[in-house]
Amino acid sequence: MKDRVIVAIDVQTQQDFERLSHELKGQATFVKVGMELYYSFGPNIIKVLKELGYKVFLDLKIHDIPNTAMKAAKTITKLGANMINVHAAGGVEMMTAARLGMEEALKENPQLERPIIIAVTQLTSTDQQMIEKDLCIDRPIHEVVVHYAKCAYEAGLDGVVSSPLEVKLIKEKLGSDFLCVTPGIRPKTISGDDQKRVTTPQDAFKRGSDYIVMGRAITNAEKPSTAFNEIIESIRN
Ligand code: C5P
Repeated sequence: MKDRVIVAIDVQTQQDFERLSHELKGQATFVKVGMELYYSFGPNIIKVLKELGYKVFLDLKIHDIPNTAMKAAKTITKLGANMINVHAAGGVEMMTAARLGMEEALKENPQLERPIIIAVTQLTSTDQQMIEKDLCIDRPIHEVVVHYAKCAYEAGLDGVVSSPLEVKLIKEKLGSDFLCVTPGIRPKTISGDDQKRVTTPQDAFKRGSDYIVMGRAITNAEKPSTAFNEIIESIRN
């Protein structure tokens, strides 16, 4: 179960990074490096976390022309991340290119472990009003998410990032092996912050999530390792 709760280490200072990475060591097993941490410390952060024994989800959400996406995916695969991602909004051709870039890196470095490659469908901070008003998409958000998931499947990716609310529909369409990694998670007592499509950790797993991603509910707690272990206990129960 611990492997299925990915902790987002969204911090910018050395002090915060050391506090969290050392406190969660031996408790959490899978952590997420997002733009905030990566842009603050650079690629070496993956090595540092791997040496501390963590698996790493490198959440850089590649979204560019296919050639650039391919080169970017190839480069980040070489860093040894266990999970990488792209934006499904980049389209099937871009996602396919990213997968091929990842595979090229593996061919050149056969000792590398193949990372899980997934696509972000719609951010969990997005709601129906936003996709209509800002993105000019005139369809229910769950239909958009499932459509993006189908595109990711067609591109040969391993799964998607979605809200737990869409997991059942995605698995019905694409099969239970197609991974659903779900942020937008809050225990009942904690505010959703900027997240809009939110569930509890227990509900996310009930709905079929393969992995949940949790940041602030753990990292802002007075004792993050206790918060993490309480969440694991509550899911087990
Ligand atoms: O603090 P919180 O639990 O809301 O953090 C969620 C993390 O998951 C953040 O690092 C955010 O960038 C990431 N994420 C997300 N929604 C997505 C994809 C990634 O919230 N669709």
